[in-house]
Amino acid sequence: MASPEVENLQAVPAHVAIIMDGNGRWALARGLPRLAGHRAGTENLRRVIEACIEFGIQYLTIYAFSTENWGRPEEEVQGLMKIFEDVIDRELQELHDQGVQMRHIGRLDRLSPEFRQKVLHALEYTKHNTRLILNVAFNYGGRDEIVNAIQCMIRDGLQPEEITVEVVNRYLFTAGVPDPDLIIRTSGELRGSNFLIWQGAYSEWYFPPVYWPDFDKEQLRLALEEYSHRERRYGRVSPVSNTTST
Ligand code: IPE
Ligand code: IPE
Ligand code: MG
Repeated sequence: MASPEVENLQAVPAHVAIIMDGNGRWALARGLPRLAGHRAGTENLRRVIEACIEFGIQYLTIYAFSTENWGRPEEEVQGLMKIFEDVIDRELQELHDQGVQMRHIGRLDRLSPEFRQKVLHALEYTKHNTRLILNVAFNYGGRDEIVNAIQCMIRDGLQPEEITVEVVNRYLFTAGVPDPDLIIRTSGELRGSNFLIWQGAYSEWYFPPVYWPDFDKEQLRLALEEYSHRERRYGRVSPVSNTTST
């Protein structure tokens, strides 16, 4: 059941994806180290997940670490790994109790064996939950995902004429998940940064002017309100102009 706050919205997106950007600048503005911003960005995440459940969203995909983020200073990369491990330790039970099913998109191969084990345990532990599917994009890149899909299709011996949009969908990390209806990027940056480049072909985009740690339930509500006024045409013409034009 959707909460009263969204009951009057015309359309609630089934799948919301978020590029959680601006942690570094949030910290800088407070004279704090960048890692303090990343830590702050895990606090509001919990509340945003709760709000998604309340608003009746079925799929939430969050961009936590890109294939390009390995290029950051070693200290920041290691700090981020530690923060993500801590989040799993701290939040897993609560997420499970709320009915959240955790999934991972991207590659786990560059993670430490301990971290990888924790992630695999979290996926296994929550796999029967159905209230909210939470896709965590970690060591994820859209181009890497497509290259991986092509490699797997060739390995499976697919013939050129067998390759269709539906088949490609099945070979992506997001297999079985509907395309994101709405992609939100915080912090004011207006780019996709290698996020869901195939799946986002017809997503609506929304760019709230706040850094990620300041994105909260009210910000999400504003995003949903804006989304509910969008007209998704998928290349066609709108029904109104169709009947009035000659
Ligand atoms: C997003 O915040 C978090 C990750 C990329 C892991 P940033 O760290 O990119 O913050 P800014 O963009 O430098 O402010
Ligand atoms: C995108 O943000 C990646 C994540 C939020 C995980 P970045 O901060 O890495 O993207 P760019 O470098 O500004 O494009
Ligand atoms: Mg950034």
